[in-house]
Amino acid sequence: MNEVREQVRQRYALAAVQGGDQGCCSGASCDPEQIVVDEKFGASLYSAQDAVSIPAEALAASLGCGNPLAVADLRAGERVLDLGSGGGIDVLLSARRVGPDGFAYGVDMTDEMLELARANATKAGATNVEFLRGTIEDLPLDDAVVDVVISNCVVNLSTDKPAVLAEAFRVLVPGGRIGISDVVAEDHLSERDRAERGSYVGCIAGALSRSEYVQGLAAAGFADAEVTFTHEVAEGMHGAIVRARKPLAAH
Ligand SMILES: C[S@@+](CC[C@H](N)C(=O)[O-])C[C@H]1O[C@@H](n2cnc3c(N)ncnc32)[C@H](O)[C@@H]1O
Repeated sequence: MNEVREQVRQRYALAAVQGGDQGCCSGASCDPEQIVVDEKFGASLYSAQDAVSIPAEALAASLGCGNPLAVADLRAGERVLDLGSGGGIDVLLSARRVGPDGFAYGVDMTDEMLELARANATKAGATNVEFLRGTIEDLPLDDAVVDVVISNCVVNLSTDKPAVLAEAFRVLVPGGRIGISDVVAEDHLSERDRAERGSYVGCIAGALSRSEYVQGLAAAGFADAEVTFTHEVAEGMHGAIVRARKPLAAH
């Protein structure tokens, strides 16, 4: 495992054990000089309706920077994959939306997060979910097995983003879609500018710019890529919704 990925794993293992305050750019482990206030990450980004539909522990474990469910437009019977599922909030919400004929997978590399997510699924009584150990750069799923890929504040943490987008494309059925929340930089910010605004493990330094995201999705084979900024999390850096589609003719 590369060094940065190991730092990310350790950071989120601690978050799983100690609670959301150690998470993505919130709480004591981010430099307050550099970055954000807590309302820009985590549970407050979910609607009251979503919040009451899952166990309080799952909501409290949220370390995301948006609500990918708000744009994924999930339908009954669909199969969903959450990249970097953490404490499981988006998997549990997806499972409710797709209903008993659908299924929601979560993939995460951090054992402590998988344990937390599985405990939250048990509390929620969810039977149409599975949390798998693995990396989002090398997904433990066969080709063309899900209709929708979601993710919440994880792609920015990857040290190999082309591999993540290629893997998302591979596991989607033709005609499938990706709808993710992530931190995204304005195009004029250099990598150094981004690093000045926050740490890699805190979801800031590793963020792609809007153009880099759109180009990366196109390079992986996606069509109709779009990035919409939703709220600023640091100067020139935004929580964003990223959407694209796997063409019907793709393999
Ligand atoms: C910021 S947290 C977000 C968790 C969850 N999506 C949420 O909204 O609460 C990042 C999560 O992604 C996982 N993660 C980070 N990089 C990963 C990688 N390369 N492969 C698999 N999981 C990864 C971490 O273990 C952690 O659980």
